[in-house]
Amino acid sequence: MPDTPDIQVHHLAKRYGETVAVRDVSFEVPRGEIFGFLGPNGAGKSTTVQILTTLALPSDGSAEVGGFDVVRQPAEVRRVSGVALQEIGLDPMMTARQLLRLHAGLFGFGRRDAAKRAEELLEIVGLTADADRKAGQYSGGMRRRLDLAMALVHEPRILFLDEPTTGLDPASRRDVWAEVRRLNREKGMTIFLTTQYLEEADVLAERIAIIDHGTVVREGTPEGLKAAMGEESLEVAFIDAATAERAATVLADLDGFPRAPRSDGATLRLYTDHAAQRVAKVATALTNAGLEPTSLTLARPTLDDVFLAATGQRFDASPADAVPADAASPDSVPSESPRDDGDATDPDATSHGRAA
Ligand SMILES: Nc1ncnc2c1ncn2[C@@H]1O[C@H](COP(=O)(O)OP(=O)(O)O)[C@@H](O)[C@H]1O
Ligand SMILES: [Mg+2]
Repeated sequence: MPDTPDIQVHHLAKRYGETVAVRDVSFEVPRGEIFGFLGPNGAGKSTTVQILTTLALPSDGSAEVGGFDVVRQPAEVRRVSGVALQEIGLDPMMTARQLLRLHAGLFGFGRRDAAKRAEELLEIVGLTADADRKAGQYSGGMRRRLDLAMALVHEPRILFLDEPTTGLDPASRRDVWAEVRRLNREKGMTIFLTTQYLEEADVLAERIAIIDHGTVVREGTPEGLKAAMGEESLEVAFIDAATAERAATVLADLDGFPRAPRSDGATLRLYTDHAAQRVAKVATALTNAGLEPTSLTLARPTLDDVFLAATGQRFDASPADAVPADAASPDSVPSESPRDDGDATDPDATSHGRAA
């Protein structure tokens, strides 16, 4: 029998009065895949997750999870899938062990089985040693692992994770990534995760969809999407902007570089195919002109470049890599954007699990 994709979404839309949370979203996730749903704040990620996990009804379109329609067969959808929402209101006074037992009870486990399941899950997410501490005292990383354990109580085949690593430090983020990979590899679990981190989508997901303003603007493997951008580039840094400017004149005449170098202060970027093969040529030309670069690096297109090409805007940059407006290229937009409204207005991402 042909394998039905574990998640199928057809022209999904969700409106809240005048607000269009999801405009038109379609994609499929085959069984056993880690699929990344990448988008800035307010793009429509949580709304999509809520519809796919039967916590919200679509205004338009349809979706199937595990072969079941999310509107007409919500009980079946809940049976085959688990979800860790962006913000769950776990009782901070309860311990992880108590919370997991309670949650298993809500899924119909008897007392003894619920206790047994809680121990298994604590082991899986590495919280056994901290099982009797109150959830309110957990670090961010431990909280996410507890969220994950809660989502796994009934052994779902399909797992939804809404921004599982937002706000985590890098070490905790990697812990969550390792856990997601393990569940996928060892249990064959299909995993749908949303993220606003380009790197997370890049390294964790086999395929991604980029969502912006409620619409999927690109879909594919991270490698494929980047490769479709075509160009590679060489980034050459100098001691100061004046040196870079002189170098730009020298390099403008080189063969194999169809476009003029783009300068950004003391750094030049040269666009070309087969960039690696042109490193020597650039280095020689600079040496001959008596100009010494402080660094010369090969840059491939990033998912940020993919996002820019698809939407005309840079991805919501973190403060560390924000580019000053005056250094931006002519085709980019001013750096302030209306994108950081999302979570503050995120109305009730805090609804509880779906066992109730
Ligand atoms: N219950 C709701 N009522 C009104 N507007 C909502 C509701 N849920 C989401 N929105 C709006 O829909 C848009 C998409 O939200 P959301 O799906 O939470 O995006 P993301 O998870 O990608 O940050 C946002 O503009 C948000 O404010
Ligand atoms: Mg969200």
